[in-house]
Amino acid sequence: MPSTVLVGAQWGDEGKGKITDLIASDYDYVVRFQGGNNAGHTVIHGDKKLALHLMPSGVMYEDAVPVIGNGVVVDPGVLVKEMAMLESEGVSCKNLRISGDAHVIMPYHKDLDGADEKRLGSQQIGTTKRGIGPCYQDKMGRKGIRIQDLMDEKIFRLKLETVLAQKNPVLERIYGLHTYTVEEICDEYLPYAQILRKHVAETGQLLNDALREGSSILFEGAQGTLLDIDHGTYPYVTSSSCCAGGASTGTGVGPKAIDRVLGIQKAYITRVGGGPFPTELKFPEEGGVGQDASDGELLCEAGHEFGVTTGRKRRCGWFDAVIARYAADVNGLTDVALTKLDVLSAFDTIKVCVAYECEGRRYDYFPMQQSVLFHAKPIYEELPGWKDIDITDCRAYEELPEATRSYIEYLEEITGVPMSIISVGPDREQTIMRGW
Ligand code: IMP
Repeated sequence: MPSTVLVGAQWGDEGKGKITDLIASDYDYVVRFQGGNNAGHTVIHGDKKLALHLMPSGVMYEDAVPVIGNGVVVDPGVLVKEMAMLESEGVSCKNLRISGDAHVIMPYHKDLDGADEKRLGSQQIGTTKRGIGPCYQDKMGRKGIRIQDLMDEKIFRLKLETVLAQKNPVLERIYGLHTYTVEEICDEYLPYAQILRKHVAETGQLLNDALREGSSILFEGAQGTLLDIDHGTYPYVTSSSCCAGGASTGTGVGPKAIDRVLGIQKAYITRVGGGPFPTELKFPEEGGVGQDASDGELLCEAGHEFGVTTGRKRRCGWFDAVIARYAADVNGLTDVALTKLDVLSAFDTIKVCVAYECEGRRYDYFPMQQSVLFHAKPIYEELPGWKDIDITDCRAYEELPEATRSYIEYLEEITGVPMSIISVGPDREQTIMRGW
């Protein structure tokens, strides 16, 4: 298997978990390169569903080495708990490798995430409140604490002292929150260091050596293209590089080592949190009316669109080809996995947004100006559906109804990327391989 980057091509929640789970066993290393426990997906283990937030899904395969790369932010308490949960289910974590350069989410990061959201009021980003943003802020501000610092008590205490001298006044005077002592944090965090120590490694060197020896790597992206700090709908984004380029900076593996870039796209689109969303079908409680509101409710219900990490109802809309083309460009997609196609069996006809319109101008490309995106009206093509035909048992492309194949081929044509994997249900077997 050549080395592959798997990325979300929309706003996250595209079904990366299922596709990762499907292909991960073909790779020798499965590597997380960005984000933290703001991600969440379920993997099937025997007859149980396990929720992973931080652990690379390679942990589920005995022969794969799961790696947490330098670009990830690690909440050590969450990681230790996740490892204990997996071990109790009979999944060994012994192969896990964690980069010493990954940054550590500290208690004050979580406090500040929540407090900052409150401060933003109606302009809230709708973060997962896991401390992701404040941790990346400290990384970029060069006052972060890394896994290697946590492993060295003397350095950890020293860095904490410096950072708390700055954090405590902010916590107390700006947000009216409680402050921390070095001792308090050490009591909680140093025991984590004992558990994680044997997993800490020079992961950049490990992966480059592995490539030299002919091993393959799956770079497992979290969140999605439009949540990328650079290429997403800023400021309504997460604080990391979720696009394919992040796989290099977040692991220390050069871009030439990447052979394929697989973008995961739902057959419609969803987003959680705030920010612009041109094809959104607003729910009645958000002011949506008529057909749009009922289509939105139907997508949410038929697609079970509730967050794994937060349980929040996801905002739903029709497939947006403007976004799909943009995702193809910024990630250099070689392939797409189209997921949740079965959900569209609930509709008479299916809309696809082919371009936007804003103040009399047509936009075929993703607009640079945020104000355009906020006011963009989708220009739709309406395609015949395959209402009430159950496609969840189809295992070969030819078994799909003609209207379904036409829908897929139409999407391929207007987005320019082959759809090599088609998912028609939540289970592993409910997948059609078309050249992957
Ligand atoms: P943060 O990553 O917690 O800082 O949240 C920033 C934005 O990214 C919010 O809109 C979140 O809802 C969104 N977000 C973060 N992680 C995910 C994810 O795994 N799926 C979908 N949205 C996410």
